[in-house]
Amino acid sequence: MENLIRTIKPMKKLINGMATVLTVLLAGLAGCATEPTDLSGNSIIPKPVSITPAGESFALTAKSDIFIMPGSPEELTSIGNYLAGKLNPSTGLGLEVITDGRKPGKGDILLAIGTGDEELGEEGYELNITGKVLTVTANKPAGIFRGIQTVRQLLPPEVEAGTVGEGPWTIPTGTIRDFPLYGHRGVMLDVARHFFGPEDVMRYMDQLAKYKMNVLHLHLSDDQGWRIEIKSWPNLTVHGGKTEVGGGEGGFYTQEEYTQMVKYAAERYITIIPEIDMPGHTNAALSSYPELNTGGKAPELYTGIKVGFSTLDTRSETTYKFVDDVIREIAALTPGKYIHIGGDESHVTKPDDYVYFINRAQDIVESHGKSVTGWDEIAHATLKPGTVVQYWARAENAVMGLNQGAKVLMSPAKYAYLDMKYDTASIFGLNWAAYIEVDDAYNWDPATLVPEIKKENIVGIEAPLWTETVSTFKEAEYLIYPRLPGYAEIGWTPAEMRSWDEYRVRLASHGKRMELMDIGFYRSPLIEWEPAVE
Ligand code: ACM
Repeated sequence: MENLIRTIKPMKKLINGMATVLTVLLAGLAGCATEPTDLSGNSIIPKPVSITPAGESFALTAKSDIFIMPGSPEELTSIGNYLAGKLNPSTGLGLEVITDGRKPGKGDILLAIGTGDEELGEEGYELNITGKVLTVTANKPAGIFRGIQTVRQLLPPEVEAGTVGEGPWTIPTGTIRDFPLYGHRGVMLDVARHFFGPEDVMRYMDQLAKYKMNVLHLHLSDDQGWRIEIKSWPNLTVHGGKTEVGGGEGGFYTQEEYTQMVKYAAERYITIIPEIDMPGHTNAALSSYPELNTGGKAPELYTGIKVGFSTLDTRSETTYKFVDDVIREIAALTPGKYIHIGGDESHVTKPDDYVYFINRAQDIVESHGKSVTGWDEIAHATLKPGTVVQYWARAENAVMGLNQGAKVLMSPAKYAYLDMKYDTASIFGLNWAAYIEVDDAYNWDPATLVPEIKKENIVGIEAPLWTETVSTFKEAEYLIYPRLPGYAEIGWTPAEMRSWDEYRVRLASHGKRMELMDIGFYRSPLIEWEPAVE
């Protein structure tokens, strides 16, 4: 017995000792979980250009506010209010925007213009996070806006919940220096095959902003519907806007609604590029005005999903009066440089007529002070300086455009089309170009895809969503997410810094953020989602 006690006692001591060590270890781990100190362990998408960890922790508290120094551009106050609007509902910390010259103290955020650092350009930013203050610096307000998206992603996922969570709202300390690879990082949304109202479009813009994207290309007209009010040709929407694929009720944006969307975009440093697709993909317009048709007879409205059967009468001056009126009205609503004239799949327009039409449409766009962008077929015409050719189908068209001095926007259907199914089991989408799983969507480089198209020829990347198969935005979300963050990263992060194996881990942690924002994303089996998908 004695012997037994003699052995048990030291054992107990040993166990107690081990328990103490374990408790300390666990406390340490728990400390790590609640008070992150390693800035390199983030899951920011798109991946920043450079991160230097400092090993401590910054915390937002009830005392925190957002500071803007006197003399800063007015826009910074709006950005500060936007940030407060994102953080307050979930943190409950009541951050206010302070512009009266007081200095930031412990736990505050400072937004400041003026690094004088040319490499950061228009949209780059620097985050300096100390235990005391989190400072976002940039050359331009656009850079501050991109920088605060990084701040959101550095906070715990619950920051996106929109209802008050417990926190703690901590961020590891260090420095992030970041700027985009391409100037044009966008998506295209087809609101013609199915109509999506301003609220859906604005919700989409919130997500684009979150991933630092800066262009929303709206496909405003097609065979199935005309979606923007044109005051000089009212029947385009009265008649041409009243249905959609499958025979639903369609819809259109009034010019006032459209202006609201343009403003909402601008507040997120997003440019809307409006597209009027011509001379093909025009059945809705042809059905609205008989005089636009060769032969003068209006066809019925169309609710199917075939392409390539319609054309404007390219040899009629009425057509050019129509194009001039439409472009004039749209140019007046468009602060951006570009108007997209479509130009794709005009299979029933004779080649000579097609070239004649595109040349005249370009003149009209220029006469209203804008530059032309169009699908890659427009390279068959004589392109004006400053034109952007959107490569979607035929590399030889894009190269023909390059040889005329145009720049290329990369939207190869096989890699960048958000409406392609993920695999044979996908519940929405088409598959005529490819099945595009999340890794296929991520694993390509715009600058090496076509040997003749080099980095310096490319303005950026755009991921189009054609909407033949989706009639609600919830359905659209299944196709958009989780491929969208990958396209954002392709546009922002240098190709040599990207790797699928590392990206898929970061993407996994965005599952929780998307859930908290009620985004109906596709749970790709290639991603180990957090939280796990049953
Ligand atoms: C296109 O997909 N027709 C541009």
